Amino acid sequence: MSQLNKYKRFTITSALPYANGPLHIGHLAGAYLPADIFVRYLRMLKKDVVYICGSDEHGAAITIKAKKEGTTPQAIIDKYHKQIKDSFEEFGVSFDIYHRTSSAIHHDLSQEFFLNLYEKGEFVEKFSEQYYDEDFDQFLADRYITGTCPVCSNDRAYGDQCENCGTSLNPTDLINPVSTLSGKAPVLKPTKHWYLPLDKYQPWLEKWIDEKEGEWKVNVFGQCRSWLKSGLQPRSMTRDLDWGIDVPLEEAKGKKLYVWMDAPIGYISATKQWAIDNQKDWQQYWKKQADDADDTCLIHFIGKDNIVFHCIIFPAILKAHGDYVLPQNVPANEFLNLEGDKLSTSRNHAVWLHEYLEEFPGKQDELRYVLTSILPETADSEFTWKDYQARVNNELVAILGNYVNRVMILMHKFFDGKVESEGGNITFTDNELNAEVGRYYDELGKNLESYRFRQALQNVMDMARLGNRYLTEQEPWKSIKTDAEAAKNALHNSLVLIGHLATCLQPFLPRTAEKIFGMLNVAPVTFDEEITFANGHQLNAASLLFEKIEDEAIEKQVQKLADKKAAAAAAPKLAPVIPAKPNISFDDFAGMDIRTGTILTAEKVAKTKKLLKLTIDTGIDQRTVVSGIAEHYEPEAIIGQQVSILVNLEPREIKGIMSQGMILMAENAEGKLCFVAPTGDMPNGSVIR
Ligand code: MF3
Ligand code: ZN
Repeated sequence: MSQLNKYKRFTITSALPYANGPLHIGHLAGAYLPADIFVRYLRMLKKDVVYICGSDEHGAAITIKAKKEGTTPQAIIDKYHKQIKDSFEEFGVSFDIYHRTSSAIHHDLSQEFFLNLYEKGEFVEKFSEQYYDEDFDQFLADRYITGTCPVCSNDRAYGDQCENCGTSLNPTDLINPVSTLSGKAPVLKPTKHWYLPLDKYQPWLEKWIDEKEGEWKVNVFGQCRSWLKSGLQPRSMTRDLDWGIDVPLEEAKGKKLYVWMDAPIGYISATKQWAIDNQKDWQQYWKKQADDADDTCLIHFIGKDNIVFHCIIFPAILKAHGDYVLPQNVPANEFLNLEGDKLSTSRNHAVWLHEYLEEFPGKQDELRYVLTSILPETADSEFTWKDYQARVNNELVAILGNYVNRVMILMHKFFDGKVESEGGNITFTDNELNAEVGRYYDELGKNLESYRFRQALQNVMDMARLGNRYLTEQEPWKSIKTDAEAAKNALHNSLVLIGHLATCLQPFLPRTAEKIFGMLNVAPVTFDEEITFANGHQLNAASLLFEKIEDEAIEKQVQKLADKKAAAAAAPKLAPVIPAKPNISFDDFAGMDIRTGTILTAEKVAKTKKLLKLTIDTGIDQRTVVSGIAEHYEPEAIIGQQVSILVNLEPREIKGIMSQGMILMAENAEGKLCFVAPTGDMPNGSVIR
């Protein structure tokens, strides 16, 4: 605990995943598994630690998904929040709370933050020209605009960021911008927003980040420096959107907080909720305590696409608010690839956590092991199913599982599973073994505290390798015939070693560690405690820790990925769907009187392009309706066509003609039209409801 020892408590966060889809192994390898290992390690050191996460439920990520699924943002976040929360739990990520940003406590706190900065005059208010989709009549969120990246020429860059080169962008930076709603070029329109003057904070940020050199990971530090070098721009903290947290200002009616303003505050609101649930003081975990400025250690675990938000923007917000601690470290990981290709939600090229948990029941630790072994800590890395199989079979089964099993079996065979030692508790009697295990502990601690989790896991596996070697050298199965004391001694040393193995495995493979403690018939211990086997201690029966993964299971997974890829490539490109409108009450609906009717006559309205004058038999009466369908239908072709008609729409004069009602048309996002008519034989005047 060299570095971390000076802190009284730890606030550890994992990036809040968007509640817009299930989790995949790329998420786990980025922000969750490393954090979980780190937190479990801190807990084993009996540190005061809170581990925070939750769903990020605002922003275009949600509304775009809702549009795709043809449902509301609320339905999307409810569905995926639950799914994500459940799979985290089953996988064994040990959050102290998994909260959500749609909660009232979060909305309140985010608005409090905004007002705090507003009242201090921290925001710069600016009218700016923003992209607007004229067909859809709305301002476009950054994510709703794509175009060519001015830096790397990737033609699928988003209005906020280019995922190819990682550059953070403004929509107006894009070359040839296109609205993802209408597929057309958006127009610029003026709108007022509240900007965080990052340029003003630049000198302070530079100084703060400079101090992190050598302490933060090179990839993180390097990215920060390069942003600072290119000069920070003010960033708007408000958006013209209809999904999100209301900007708490009278003059900003209808505007929402920028999702990257509210989401990181989600770490704090989640902590508040946790504190309420557990009778704690949330402020201790977030605010500088008067006596000692350095007593709370805040660490953000994230993926590399989140670096600017956690290292520049959120710290600037915290600093502007005042009193808050700033992140001590932001150990961001690079990306995990899958079978030679980028992980992709849209192409369905992913190993989904909920599917893995279903198809490999009880094999959480196998996945934890493989992912930890290949974490993209310093560079992108790759998951393949063949490699998964090889690591499980050649490492977990052959080294770790095998070692524990051999010792347990021999103890039962030779000594009925009883630890008998006249000298009281057994400990290492082999000094070399003792010294080497001590060295592994030191290495392990250093690696974990430097966020080198791959290396740390190797330290533990090396301990298992050491055990295997020791057993092979000692050959208790031979010495038992000539020198039973020597055999017993070798096995006792091995048991002590297994105790250490289980101890050190806890942060990485918690279920496996628990199983081993169970076989040893001892209670789990933390890093500063030692397992004791008293004279006469009875071991439990041996059971296998891991099973071999058969070729068949692996082939099935590889095939599944190939099938998904083929299906994604073959799927027709779906036309965009117009987003859902806000809910209405049943009464609003019931107020509409919609009937079946038939078109009796149709003629063009003079001097217009779009309008037809129709006479409709509504079953109640015959009436005139003016309808904007002339560009789609020839008048003669629709006589006799059955339709649905809203008969109690207030009559309206259109081009000098009184229009009495409206016929219903289905229209897709591209403007294609068709009539909505009963599919069976229904008389005119039948009620539609
Ligand atoms: N939802 C974001 C993403 O998936 C991460 C949000 S992290 C937080 O990229 F700090 F904003 F919460
Ligand atoms: Zn780019």
